Amino acid sequence: MYNNVLTSHNGGITTITINRPSKLNALNKETIQELHDAFDEANKNIKTKVIIITGSGEKAFVAGADISEFANFSIDQGGQLAAKGQELLFDFVANLSTPVIAAVNGFALGGGLELAMSAHFRIASDNAKMGLPEVSLGVIPGYGGTQRLPQLVGKGRAMEMIMTAGMVDANQALNYGLVNHVVSQEELLPLAEKLASKIMRNSSVAIGAAINSVNAAYEDGVNGFETEIKEFGSCFGTKDFKEGTTAFLEKRKADFPGK
Ligand code: COA
Repeated sequence: MYNNVLTSHNGGITTITINRPSKLNALNKETIQELHDAFDEANKNIKTKVIIITGSGEKAFVAGADISEFANFSIDQGGQLAAKGQELLFDFVANLSTPVIAAVNGFALGGGLELAMSAHFRIASDNAKMGLPEVSLGVIPGYGGTQRLPQLVGKGRAMEMIMTAGMVDANQALNYGLVNHVVSQEELLPLAEKLASKIMRNSSVAIGAAINSVNAAYEDGVNGFETEIKEFGSCFGTKDFKEGTTAFLEKRKADFPGK
């Protein structure tokens, strides 16, 4: 169905795999559009409770935006590349109501790290290496990296990573809080699935409201506390809330309708 993206669905989990291993899964225009379509489809599918994003092969999650595609761009084209990419993929993923886990299975550089940072949280295999090497190419991160990296690791660490164009290994990324867990490559997808199963036991409607509320803290001109109050209130009108509270009072496990 897609040229550079594989999707599979199993028990509430949709796994999206970037599949361009000969180019270390670099994000060209086509791949960005296909990823948008795959995320959009998964998010609209009522059966998808969690999305896992990973890269194919053992070497790379994504080695960045495809450098060969933008090497001759003008100022305007450069600006449009960033704007379109942010809208289609990076902001789009960050704002999905379905939880997205990035399983970083190797190099996550430039746009690759930016994609992983757009996911709601990240886990990594022990061979993973992460960085924003754009200034080594004479450009800066354009898919949200200058904003999301400081949010995740703090301003000083982000400044160092961006200015040196260096890579951090999986343990350093763990230490920085850039990823939540580090395991071997064989254990990576099983761990992502285990975390997804835990998430799936809970109300998907409440999770969507929580994502929106957490994200509000990082939006300009939005008061996150007010967003939280609004989202909190709206939960009281859902079938999931009725079921969750009733199940608790009846001392049974909740069976959320997801509405
Ligand atoms: N854009 C386009 N092609 C890329 C790419 C990218 N970001 N990253 C890797 N590739 C391609 C290489 O050109 C090569 O293609 P080829 O076999 O047709 O020549 C193939 O993927 C394999 O990469 P290679 O560089 O040979 O692998 P390596 O093991 O020697 O090095 C990296 C791995 C990740 C260190 C190296 O590929 C790299 O530095 N990539 C660019 C990272 C970057 O700057 N990303 C930010 C972009 S904004």
